[in-house]
Amino acid sequence: MIAIGNDHTGYELKKVITDYFDEKGIEYKDFGSAKVDASDYPDFAKAVGRSIQNKECDKGIIICGTGIGISIAANKMKGIRAALCHDCFSAEATRLHNDANVLAMGARVVGPGLALKIVETFLGTDFSGAERHMKRISMLEED
Ligand code: RB5
Repeated sequence: MIAIGNDHTGYELKKVITDYFDEKGIEYKDFGSAKVDASDYPDFAKAVGRSIQNKECDKGIIICGTGIGISIAANKMKGIRAALCHDCFSAEATRLHNDANVLAMGARVVGPGLALKIVETFLGTDFSGAERHMKRISMLEED
């Protein structure tokens, strides 16, 4: 189950992604903001992060204008590894190396076509499971 969340700037891109999920039969829960109202990106980062923490969802996608604020907010949550990706190389690498469980994107940065490729790459790449990466990931939770 994929959690998806967006602030007001990310509504259109979120729709592109959920339409794609509907078409492909990919299950998701939408924690995002409605288009019209100005909204606060930390609310949606927290809703998506909580759904992963409580195992309601396995992975998340979060969208704000830049992807920066919403990824900062998500990365403050225990067990959440949010990666801001605007290219497929990063989306693949962060799954392989960081076992990122949340993909963040900026709706003002990336177009819908590339965003969908990034989503496909992120969701379609498994963690490598390499010991060195597991060690580094466990170090992320030390402080
Ligand atoms: C909203 O204007 C904008 O600040 C927000 O979507 C995001 O880009 C913050 O990082």
